[in-house]
Amino acid sequence: MNKRRIIEVLRHGQADDQVMVQGWLRTKRTLKDFSFVEVNDGSSLANLQVVLDGNLTDYDRLLSQLQTGAAVVVEGKLAPSPGKGQRVELKVAKLELLGGADPSSYPLQKKRHSFEFLRTIGHLRPRTNTIGAVMRVRNACATAIHQFFQERGFLWVHTPIITASDCEGAGDLFNVTTLDLQKVPKSDHGIDYSEDFFGKQAYLTVSGQLEAEVMALAFQNVYTFGPTFRAENSNTSRHLAEFWMVEPEMAFCDLEGDRQWAEEFLKYIFKFVLEKCPEDMEFFDQRIDNTVLATADNIINNEFAWLTYTEAIQLLEKAEQKFEYPVAWGVDLQSEHERYLAEIVFKRPTIVTDYPKDIKAFYMRLNEDGKTVAAMDILAPKIGEIIGGSQREERLDVLTQRMQEQGVPESDLWWYLDLRRYGSVPHAGFGLGFERIVQFMTGMANIRDVIPFPRTPMNAEF
Ligand code: 4AD
Ligand code: MG
Repeated sequence: MNKRRIIEVLRHGQADDQVMVQGWLRTKRTLKDFSFVEVNDGSSLANLQVVLDGNLTDYDRLLSQLQTGAAVVVEGKLAPSPGKGQRVELKVAKLELLGGADPSSYPLQKKRHSFEFLRTIGHLRPRTNTIGAVMRVRNACATAIHQFFQERGFLWVHTPIITASDCEGAGDLFNVTTLDLQKVPKSDHGIDYSEDFFGKQAYLTVSGQLEAEVMALAFQNVYTFGPTFRAENSNTSRHLAEFWMVEPEMAFCDLEGDRQWAEEFLKYIFKFVLEKCPEDMEFFDQRIDNTVLATADNIINNEFAWLTYTEAIQLLEKAEQKFEYPVAWGVDLQSEHERYLAEIVFKRPTIVTDYPKDIKAFYMRLNEDGKTVAAMDILAPKIGEIIGGSQREERLDVLTQRMQEQGVPESDLWWYLDLRRYGSVPHAGFGLGFERIVQFMTGMANIRDVIPFPRTPMNAEF
């Protein structure tokens, strides 16, 4: 029997093709002489309509067991469908029920469930239309990212998850400790018996950037794509304690080059996903946020806006809108400021460059004015910052001075300083928050709903 995925059947199946599909039952409609069941196998938003004839052996018993959520294997012949919105349906010759789903307890019955409720059943929510569409778009985004860099000769490098360095210097690190439970009396479990890892303080990485710089200074263009961790206790719709980050790093590149790479990269991802997941993107536009397709079109076809931090502050100071956080040169931009610029002023992704040195990390290259650094944030409408990047400080003397100012011990980063001692070149890179771009692309309001298993202060069932 010709085993097929439902997306293939719906797109390319022809009348009289013999097929077998495997999936989960979404709905059932019983008429006098026959019944319809909708089967979904995760390959697409659309279900395959399966028609059961009343003459089928065991028809009544089978029908009573075919409940929403049940797992089935169906074999039969395709026929043109008289129903709306589908070309073909499957006339059942044989239907096997693998696992039933008791309707008195299975929570995903045919009705709309709130995303808050779905978060409480994280193990079942992948079977819903919205989370299904999110996961397919997420997968397409990840594929686009690899394809973009691979086509352009970037090397995918794997940076450590357990590390001794705090790249961003923001102090929101998860500590890694070794705890030998054999040696700890049972009654004392839960008490701090931490030992340093390898005799040294170790953390979960907040960014692979410093290690990516090591690799870029040997391979020119590299990128990381992996999990990163921030122990920030911010319970917002845009923060996770564990998120995925993409960090390209380019040698022989300045801030202008960095900006161009970032813009080309984002345009590529949007174009790729629209081509790969047209039905899912249409669904988001219709059911989640009716600006999704217009936003994608805008990103692909228009240049991003671009201004300096100083210009951004001037615009914010003149704004009619009242902000919760006051604006003045030197303050860090809050999400309300970022959204005002991208949503109200420019109405498209907006690149802000050259931030004050005191609000940015030690590794960013000091500008000629001595007050600002060659930093770049990309702000997206509705989300705020999706990319943070910079040209890196490649001059040994300036870098050591900046580390002293920010209290970063040279002894911890001697190897990073070596990169400036031996064969130093101008280089630049950026970090894209992977969940933030999936959020931006799908219009999903909460970042917890674009990652299969969100890690936040309030949520850790798994
Ligand atoms: O701006 P960030 O902190 O930059 C860095 O880590 C640099 N080392 C990147 C580089 O230049 N290689 O973080 C980069 C991006 C942010 O723009 C944001 O999209 C995302 O990571 N991000 C988060 N996403 C979800 N939850 C969080 N808690 C996040 N913190 C940052
Ligand atoms: Mg940032």
